[in-house]
Amino acid sequence: MKVRITILSENLVGRVVGLGEHGFSALIETDCGNYLFDTGGGRSVIENSLALNKNLRTVEKIFLSHGHNDHTGGLPNVLRLRGGMDVHVHPDVFVDRMAVRKEKDGEVRRFTGMIYKRSYLEFLGAHFILNSDFYEVEKGIFLTGEVPRKTVFEKPDPQLFREVQGKVVQDTLADDQSLILDTEKGLVLIFGCAHSGMINIMNHVIHKTGKDHFYAVLGGTHLDFLTPEQLEESIGFLKDMNVTRIGVSHCTGLRAAFRLQQEFGDRFFYGWVGSGLEV
Ligand SMILES: [Fe+2]
Ligand SMILES: [Fe+2]
Repeated sequence: MKVRITILSENLVGRVVGLGEHGFSALIETDCGNYLFDTGGGRSVIENSLALNKNLRTVEKIFLSHGHNDHTGGLPNVLRLRGGMDVHVHPDVFVDRMAVRKEKDGEVRRFTGMIYKRSYLEFLGAHFILNSDFYEVEKGIFLTGEVPRKTVFEKPDPQLFREVQGKVVQDTLADDQSLILDTEKGLVLIFGCAHSGMINIMNHVIHKTGKDHFYAVLGGTHLDFLTPEQLEESIGFLKDMNVTRIGVSHCTGLRAAFRLQQEFGDRFFYGWVGSGLEV
């Protein structure tokens, strides 16, 4: 399978054209069809598709990595442009959730769940396909489904919460899933936010596909949010796996991105708006 991946929504803009936005979206063009993985926070996905000369009307299916609004907020705009289509999600994607940050003068709470109700998205043409398991969505294209949390150094983000039966509890983001493309050069793995832990996800992919050659890992890795130990352990794992291209974006954070660049040199690139990979 030949694949071209283009980052449509991302925090940074690396070209002359495009709009930066906290969020993530990647267009996947293949010789079998075009797909969208996440939809950004809202404004940028359509604007950047036009700026980058990508026609979102050709998208056949949407895959959502998880329910956070910076990955799902652009869905109504894409549906209005494209019309109805299948949207593959984990059932927990619709859960109400929030981020709580402790500041000097108190807590700052922010709603982080899907902004639009399921019924409204269905009215716009979303046909939700709910699945929590690893599965092949198209020939050679897989969703990880729910990822077992096994490493000791990858922990849930302590600032993220959800409500369960009236109680606020830590949100482990069970709905977090990544996209796998099985290409001639090896596996290409695209994370949304990697809330399950980048290494947990890669181990799960190896276990489920029976393949362990990753040509590329792309997307949001959440590496700058947690512990220095997690970053260093993750770098060690990427080295052991001999990943050819590492193109991180979004919630990786600049400090972690600089560290990856230092470690991997030319194998590393920053996945800003307009960047991408052809395999
Ligand atoms: Fe995110
Ligand atoms: Fe997220």
